[in-house]
Amino acid sequence: MAFEPNPPVDPPRPGGVGAARAPAGVPRHVAIIMDGNGRWAATRRLPRSAGHRAGIRPVRMSVEECAKRGVEVLTLFAFSSENWRRPPQEVGLLMQLFLEAIEREVDELSRNGVELRFIGERGSLAEELRLRMANAEARTRGNRGLKLVVAVAYGGRWDLVQAARRLARECADGRLAPEAIDEARIGAALALGDLPEPDLFIRTGGDRRVSNFLLWNLAYTELCFVDALWPEFSAEHLGAAFASFAARQRRFGMTGEQVEAGPC
Ligand code: IPE
Ligand code: IPE
Ligand code: MG
Repeated sequence: MAFEPNPPVDPPRPGGVGAARAPAGVPRHVAIIMDGNGRWAATRRLPRSAGHRAGIRPVRMSVEECAKRGVEVLTLFAFSSENWRRPPQEVGLLMQLFLEAIEREVDELSRNGVELRFIGERGSLAEELRLRMANAEARTRGNRGLKLVVAVAYGGRWDLVQAARRLARECADGRLAPEAIDEARIGAALALGDLPEPDLFIRTGGDRRVSNFLLWNLAYTELCFVDALWPEFSAEHLGAAFASFAARQRRFGMTGEQVEAGPC
């Protein structure tokens, strides 16, 4: 798999954070809930594990497509805080698949300039997986292509709790005044604090809910729900989501006329 290079750097766009690189009309940050593996397997009378294995191909496709289109950050929801409630056998298989996928993919991702990062409650994961995650992050750190964020044992509520604890600790240590806590500080204390907010959210599998994904960060994200199950999610589905995004007017509370007039 060889990715085409990111397109040339665009001038910063109004409302963006830091230097924008994604071409106009292309989301800087895409966040995906990869849902529907179990149902995909059930319709084929296969075990749920077969659905999870079949879910690897669209991950590769999404990474390649996003890199090709100039997306800066792709965040994939792989395992939620609530997914621990599943049967131990399924949880075990998913953890095994994560281990194998990291081992198998990290070299190629790195060759293609991808910087890999994991978000979630790492303390809840087995030590071997934690080590491999840390190694993969270390091996790809500083790569200048797509930033690929994989959310494992992640929950939006967990993220807010860890941010609150972090800020409370700073206050208790006398490094931060409670009055100085504002939206920017809370945002910065979250797992994605140093990255631009998601512009485009995609959920496959037909359900129209957020399932405790990036609760704070999705405040102004454009939502796109796709009926296709994750294993059948294709470049065409992704292209349709990008086209839908490009056709939307993002008003951020303003009027359409204000947005059309451009920044004053
Ligand atoms: C998404 O597919 C994968 C994970 C949540 C780990 P599901 O396993 O939720 O598939 P469905 O929703 O049961 O079809
Ligand atoms: C959301 O899917 C989590 C991931 C895709 C990792 P779920 O299948 O767990 O969501 P619910 O339980 O149907 O809301
Ligand atoms: Mg599901």
